Amino acid sequence: MDVLLIGATGGTGAHLLRLLLADGHQVRAMVRREEQADEVRAAGATPVLADLEGELDDAVAGVDAVCFCAGSGSSTGPDKTLLVDLHGAVRTVDACRAHGVRRYLMLSSMAAGAPERGPEAIRHYLAAKHAADRILMDSGLDWTVVRPGGLTDDDPTGRVAVGVPHLGERGSIPRADVAAVMAACLEDPRTHGAVFELVSGDVPVAEVAAQV
Ligand SMILES: NC(=O)c1ccc[n+]([C@@H]2O[C@H](COP(=O)([O-])OP(=O)(O)OC[C@H]3O[C@@H](n4cnc5c(N)ncnc54)[C@H](OP(=O)(O)O)[C@@H]3O)[C@@H](O)[C@H]2O)c1
Repeated sequence: MDVLLIGATGGTGAHLLRLLLADGHQVRAMVRREEQADEVRAAGATPVLADLEGELDDAVAGVDAVCFCAGSGSSTGPDKTLLVDLHGAVRTVDACRAHGVRRYLMLSSMAAGAPERGPEAIRHYLAAKHAADRILMDSGLDWTVVRPGGLTDDDPTGRVAVGVPHLGERGSIPRADVAAVMAACLEDPRTHGAVFELVSGDVPVAEVAAQV
C-alpha cells in the first residue's frame, strides 16, 4: 500500500514508520523540517514537507491510506490542540474524501469517547480528539480509531488489552505496541468501522482485529 504517515517523527509514529516499511508498504512520511526529511529518507520512506496548519492536498493525493499519529503535545497551549489535534485532523479527513483515499487509521486517546468524564486538566484535549474522531466516523471512509491509554517508551510486549469501545479502567501501553496494533489493523477489513481503547494486557497483537 501507499501510506501517508502523519506524525512520522513522533514517538509512536517513528515505530509505525519502521513497521510499515518492514511490512513492504511505500510510506510517504509527513515532516515539517528539512533535516527530518533526510532522516525519514534514510529509513526508506519518501518525505513530504507539510504542516497540519497548512496546505495538505499534495501530501494526501495519491496514497491508499492515511495513518494519523500526530499531536500538538503538552508543551503547547490549547490553541495548538484546536489547530492541530482537531482542525488539522479534520482537514486530513476532508483531503482524503477530496482525493479518493478510502482508508484512515486514527491514533486518538483513551477517554476521548467521553471527555466530560476525563481528568479536568486534559478535558479540552479529549474534546478535540472526540470531535475529530466523530467527524472521521461520519466521513464514509474505511476508518479505524485506536484510543490508547498513557503512552510509554518501554519495550514492546506484543500483548494488549482491548476495550470495545471502552475499557473499564485506565492504564498505559508502550508506544511500540500501539504502533504494532496500527500496523496490524491497516490492511485488515475486520477493523473497518472499529473504535477501541488499548492498554497493555494479555491479547497478542495479531488477535486484536478479531476482537474489535
Ligand atoms: N502522551 C500520551 O500519553 C498519549 C495518550 C493517548 C494518546 N496520545 C496521542 O497519541 C498520538 C501520538 O503521541 P506521541 O506522544 O507518540 O507523539 P509525539 O512524540 O508527541 O509526536 C507528535 C508528532 O506530531 C507532529 N506534529 C505536531 N504538530 C504538527 C503539525 N502542526 N503538523 C504536522 N505534524 C505535527 C510532530 O512533528 P514534529 O517532529 O515536527 O514536532 C510529531 O511527529 C498523539 O495524537 C497523542 O495525542 C498520547
